[in-house]
Amino acid sequence: MTVSIEEIRESITAIHARLIKFRRDIHSYPELSGEEEKTSAFVAGILEDNDIELRTGVGGYGVVGVINGARPGRTIAFRADMDALPVQDKKSVEYASKVEGVMHACGHDAHTTMLLGTAIVLNSFRERLTGSVKLIFQPSEERAVTGAKFMIEEGALEDPVPSAIVALHCFPEMEVGTVGHRPGIMSASSDRFRIVVKGKSGHASRPHQCVDAVLLASLVVNAIHHIVSRRTDPLHHGVISIGTVQGGMAPNIIADHVEMEGTVRALDPAARKKIHSLIEETIKGVTEGMGGGYELEYWFGTPPVVNSKKVDAFVADSAREILGAHNVIELAEPLMGAEDFAYFAEKVPGTLVRLGTGNRDKGITSHLHNSMFDIDEDALKVGAEILSWTAVKYLSKV
Ligand code: NI
Repeated sequence: MTVSIEEIRESITAIHARLIKFRRDIHSYPELSGEEEKTSAFVAGILEDNDIELRTGVGGYGVVGVINGARPGRTIAFRADMDALPVQDKKSVEYASKVEGVMHACGHDAHTTMLLGTAIVLNSFRERLTGSVKLIFQPSEERAVTGAKFMIEEGALEDPVPSAIVALHCFPEMEVGTVGHRPGIMSASSDRFRIVVKGKSGHASRPHQCVDAVLLASLVVNAIHHIVSRRTDPLHHGVISIGTVQGGMAPNIIADHVEMEGTVRALDPAARKKIHSLIEETIKGVTEGMGGGYELEYWFGTPPVVNSKKVDAFVADSAREILGAHNVIELAEPLMGAEDFAYFAEKVPGTLVRLGTGNRDKGITSHLHNSMFDIDEDALKVGAEILSWTAVKYLSKV
């Protein structure tokens, strides 16, 4: 007999107090990207207590659990990130961070907790499930060197291979009890570059004998800002920002090189590639056209999150059954922030869903990455219910 929505709801409600405790424990002792030793051990401990098969040390402090149903079938995966941020917690609550300058300001404590709740509940029904549930607890989401990539390289998506992957992310701008989903592009890519503009130095009074790298750099900055406004499709959003410019030695010396660093965000994989080639073309044109030269280093970071239409629709349906249709909102716009869930969604059809965690009546309105960030803990229940119900439905469909 398959598991009913009421059974899921009752089981999650029964562990809600425990989930709040889990979340507060993790919230009190946040760990930065790549340092999630205690959080990872906490997660592994709970999976072990529930006799859930697990692997630790996957891509750093990553933990992968597998719940096998009574009969073989397909596999759905859920991913929760575990790391915190270098932010000082300024909340005055007893579960505020006890670690100076480190805080769960992006809600990853809640993501981890919701997945633990999902694991406990689904495991209790495992005799009635067909197929498997894969639980991916990921380290190092907030850092450029991403945990997702390492976990995939170390087999997180193998044995069993999931045919769908789902992640929730706290979204304080939406009220608790609501979710936002979006088929297609959900968040931007994040790439980085470093440019060295090369000229020829000499006395400031004799510019004709030199190539002024400062002037060339100013032209490069200007020209690069024409890429998004004039050379890419206006419907393919992107942002290029140059954050640092360094060069020159003295007021009366023409500089022979200037270094600049910047970042590129794009929502569309094709626009992302195009921006890269246009940056190179622009720098080459400007510098060589004026007698100078250049060096360009370009690092492709996190790709855009592209949600599978099918998986997104499936999760949105489950969420509607849990929350009522009017509380499940299709988001009109993607976000320009990057999320390394993108690496998972490149390999397996997936969706990243925004979970409402705000509550204006209770004054829970702070944005992500803010030192006052908090969630309405009822969201833990909502998230775990959505994930659990999604799994039950997905595995019962043959
Ligand atoms: Ni986050």
